[in-house]
Amino acid sequence: MSSLFWLSIPLLLAAIVYQVGTPVLVANLISGNIFFNIISNIFSTTHCYVSVSTLSSTLPNAECFSVSNGKFSRVFLDQTSFKITKEARTGHVIPGLWDGHGHLVQYGELLDSVNLFGAMSMDDVRRLLIDYKASHKQAGTPEQWLRGIGWDQANFEGRWPIAPDLEINDAFEQQYVMLDRVDVHCIWVSEAVLALLPSPLPDVTGGEIPAKGVFCDNAMDVVMQYYPRPNKERKTKFVQDAMWELNKLGIVGIHDAGVFPAELDLYEELSQGKDWNVRVYAMMECETRNTFCPAKARKIATSNEKLFVRSVKLFGDGALGSWGSAMIEPYSDKNSSSGSLLVNATTLSKLTLDWSTAGYQVNIHAIGDLANRLAVDAFTEAFERLCPGQDHRECQTQRRFRIEHSQIIHPDDQQRIFDSGIIPSIQPTHATSDMAYAEKRLGRTRTEHEAYRMRSLLPLGPVFGSDFPVEPANVFEGIFAAVTRRSPQTGLDADGGTEGWYTEETVTVRQALEGFTIHPAYAAFLEGKAGVIQPGAYADWVVLDDPIDAIDIESLRNVTVRETWVGGRRVYKRPGPEDIPRNG
Ligand SMILES: *[C@@H]1O[C@H](CO)[C@@H](O)[C@H](O)[C@H]1NC(C)=O
Ligand SMILES: *[C@@H]1O[C@H](CO)[C@@H](O)[C@H](O)[C@H]1NC(C)=O
Ligand SMILES: *[C@@H]1O[C@H](CO)[C@@H](O)[C@H](O)[C@H]1NC(C)=O
Ligand SMILES: [Zn+2]
Repeated sequence: MSSLFWLSIPLLLAAIVYQVGTPVLVANLISGNIFFNIISNIFSTTHCYVSVSTLSSTLPNAECFSVSNGKFSRVFLDQTSFKITKEARTGHVIPGLWDGHGHLVQYGELLDSVNLFGAMSMDDVRRLLIDYKASHKQAGTPEQWLRGIGWDQANFEGRWPIAPDLEINDAFEQQYVMLDRVDVHCIWVSEAVLALLPSPLPDVTGGEIPAKGVFCDNAMDVVMQYYPRPNKERKTKFVQDAMWELNKLGIVGIHDAGVFPAELDLYEELSQGKDWNVRVYAMMECETRNTFCPAKARKIATSNEKLFVRSVKLFGDGALGSWGSAMIEPYSDKNSSSGSLLVNATTLSKLTLDWSTAGYQVNIHAIGDLANRLAVDAFTEAFERLCPGQDHRECQTQRRFRIEHSQIIHPDDQQRIFDSGIIPSIQPTHATSDMAYAEKRLGRTRTEHEAYRMRSLLPLGPVFGSDFPVEPANVFEGIFAAVTRRSPQTGLDADGGTEGWYTEETVTVRQALEGFTIHPAYAAFLEGKAGVIQPGAYADWVVLDDPIDAIDIESLRNVTVRETWVGGRRVYKRPGPEDIPRNG
């Protein structure tokens, strides 16, 4: 044993000098990090690129980094002692991307269902359904309903669809069909599904049934009770398919905005497998919305650091598109209504206090300005109770309360959010999808002073996300939307021009990138570990063809990633010309 020890010393020294060069060795000796460096350098691999944007507050940009044990161990500029010549390098690196608000299982389910986004008429919808059914014969049975997402009544001349619209042809007779509206706040179902429901249909507070076969917000529960939930095998497939698609987009981590306890069990099991290539920060949601279910709740931090649970999701209101968001004043295009809350103020405050007392971060879905106000009220009350006599901002650094969507916020409440440092969680593509009708619903004044803030909220470290599958998960589309306030699909603003929609709320590319990296890291208690390239952080990175800040703005929405790495392992590589199989 002792002879092995002596033998190892020259080997170690040789390895250090080879890996780090003498100046660094001396620096390490001085800083006392020698032991750590010896160990990590021997077991590390080094990667060099043309450039590396670290996004670190303490490190400049670099060219190379070393990875050991799934983490970055060293980040540095090129050194002549290195055998990797500059000429041999390609690619520009940014930290692995995070989506701060998405829905993993639903995304996987969408990949396996009819995609109705972009269907501009009822005929389009029918054509897509017919095509899908032809290749998915098993979909539509009582055990496996035919699912789809993406319809919008605005494309049916403003008429709500009805159940009989789904009796398309013989293949659709007696079929179980359930299609989500673009914003997933309404579902449209077939006659066979309607036949399962009680008659007369119950009255649901916080929900609407605007047409025969359409159920919005809380009224969706009337149908969901009969929906045959996908079994474990299908859910496993959904998770794997979703993660693969996310990796293709450069996404290495997500905040899963609402996961039932039973699904958490599945996540925990799957997170140990080699196909779990996206880090998941999951917000728990009780089986019954807006309740306190401590017996089912638990915090999770797996030892492989791929699954984290320490937050809950509560719901203040519905969505703007279906007039479901709760407003202080009535809608401008429907003066009889100011939307509806899914929970009253007393209950929301009590739930916030109960969950935060139990040690959970509380994340409240709030779209309308009334829902946002009640969320701020609930958080403010919780600060008073949890940290009596303390500054709210200080209390908030421990709690990190978030408002999911933060879409329409009264100026008074924007000020209160600033005063206590509440974290806004924003989806830049929601702004560009909703801009077509937002001003109609809200009127000029509210749109100008309250709606879809981005730049105004920057000092709060806003988390950016897509809300996939409600919007495409592509982060570069989100960056384009945030930087231009124009649609990533068309490149145009609400008037069909190229100026951008309320451009005083645009942000820079760098600020948008931070919204998809370091801000979601902080909002998940993972600062310094995720969304950044620095020693000790997860070795998650994305390789692009060009440096991100050199990409022409118009081309941003078309960026594709070259490679995605998670925990020091490559999980996606874009097929190059050499990888495409030859025909014949
Ligand atoms: C509400 O809208 C209706 C129909 O657009 C209109 O006739 C009515 O005057 C409006 N009421 C108020 C109070 O603005
Ligand atoms: C709020 O909702 C709860 C639960 O639905 C109900 O018990 C309570 O009476 C409501 N409070 C008010 C003030 O409406
Ligand atoms: C980006 O892609 C869209 C179609 O997806 C295309 O119309 C457009 O020309 C592309 N823009 C650039 C700058 O490549
Ligand atoms: Zn969502």
